[in-house]
Amino acid sequence: MITVEDPVRRTLLKRGIALMGGLLFAGLMAPAGGYFLAPLWRHSDEGWSEVGPVSAIPVGTPIKVDFVERKKDGWATTEGRASVWIVTTDGAQFTVYDPRCTHLGCPYRWDTEKGVFLCPCHTAIFDMDGHVLSGPAPRPLDRLLTKVEDGRLLIRAVTHPQET
Ligand code: FES
Repeated sequence: MITVEDPVRRTLLKRGIALMGGLLFAGLMAPAGGYFLAPLWRHSDEGWSEVGPVSAIPVGTPIKVDFVERKKDGWATTEGRASVWIVTTDGAQFTVYDPRCTHLGCPYRWDTEKGVFLCPCHTAIFDMDGHVLSGPAPRPLDRLLTKVEDGRLLIRAVTHPQET
């Protein structure tokens, strides 16, 4: 039997009650904490933006496509206009380039007659595979992650610099 005058037992009883209260509180808060913190861990699996139907992408000729880019960062999702260059040589595999030159970020264009990408700012030239042919660009064109779902091309706004 616990007596009021027994300080050791009183201390043990207080600690036991505090421990049970703490466990009960943690049990109640864990689901709520998981719900609010989940977007932080989901970040790496999201961020895909739809560019358009793959059937609209010409084979053998790079095309610049404008689209609405969705970016998800934790709880916030933002949308904005963006563009990419898309290349396919077989209609099945797609290479998507960031539209900014790897020198200082100018927008480049495709020169149909010469069959190369030209950057007007400092005359960098890239081939269809994005490799530097001449000029000051320090590396090939940056590529974006791609996937095809239900006949639609999706990209992810993470660049993957090619090896020089
Ligand atoms: S920004 Fe393209 S060559 Fe300088």
